[in-house]
Amino acid sequence: LTYTNTHFVKSAAKLSQCPMDILREVAFAGRSNAGKSSALNRLTGHKKLARTSKTPGRTQLINYFQIGELPLALVDLPGYGFAKVPLAVKNEWQRELDNYLQNRDALIGLVLLMDIRHPLKEFDNAMIQWAKRSEMPLHILLTKADKLKRGPAQSALLQVRKAVSSLGKLVSVQTYSSLNGEGTDELQKRLNS
Ligand code: GTP
Ligand code: MG
Repeated sequence: LTYTNTHFVKSAAKLSQCPMDILREVAFAGRSNAGKSSALNRLTGHKKLARTSKTPGRTQLINYFQIGELPLALVDLPGYGFAKVPLAVKNEWQRELDNYLQNRDALIGLVLLMDIRHPLKEFDNAMIQWAKRSEMPLHILLTKADKLKRGPAQSALLQVRKAVSSLGKLVSVQTYSSLNGEGTDELQKRLNS
């Protein structure tokens, strides 16, 4: 798989706008600011493929990126948990996200990104439980690993692995840094599998 040959396809505000000609997709989910867009940019080697600075709450978009000519797309989901967003908007996001997760047939895997310094927040746990219930393959990135020394980073990794162990073979966990590229190979291997 060559990830450098990736291009933007479209943005969808809801499930009904998602492209119908995509057969398989992997979605990147996580709290706002977890580093989803940065991870997509690092993975694909494009600095500005996914926008890393957008105004949360103004638009709620599901962004589609196609990898090369292969029938696999990567999906940058809107962040959740942004405190400044009005409750009504938050609920609307939640509804659209739920609808997407429950009903998007092309969805074959989920990448859940959590800041390594603040893992397993309420919404993260909800996503993990959803993956378990739906038997959806789940890959967890503990992002911004460059912010911690090796010892604390490894203990965070072990803590999260332990917390999700009931998902068995469905789940994998790794450390990741968009800043220095740590974990990019491991992420690519997982997406290839
Ligand atoms: P939303 O689109 O709001 O949901 O956020 P996001 O999850 O897409 O986060 P984004 O990629 O925009 O990154 C948020 C901030 O974290 C930016 O200032 C990034 O530069 C920073 N950031 C992302 N990844 C890393 C990383 O691996 N290391 C460090 N040090 N900073 C990072
Ligand atoms: Mg983003």
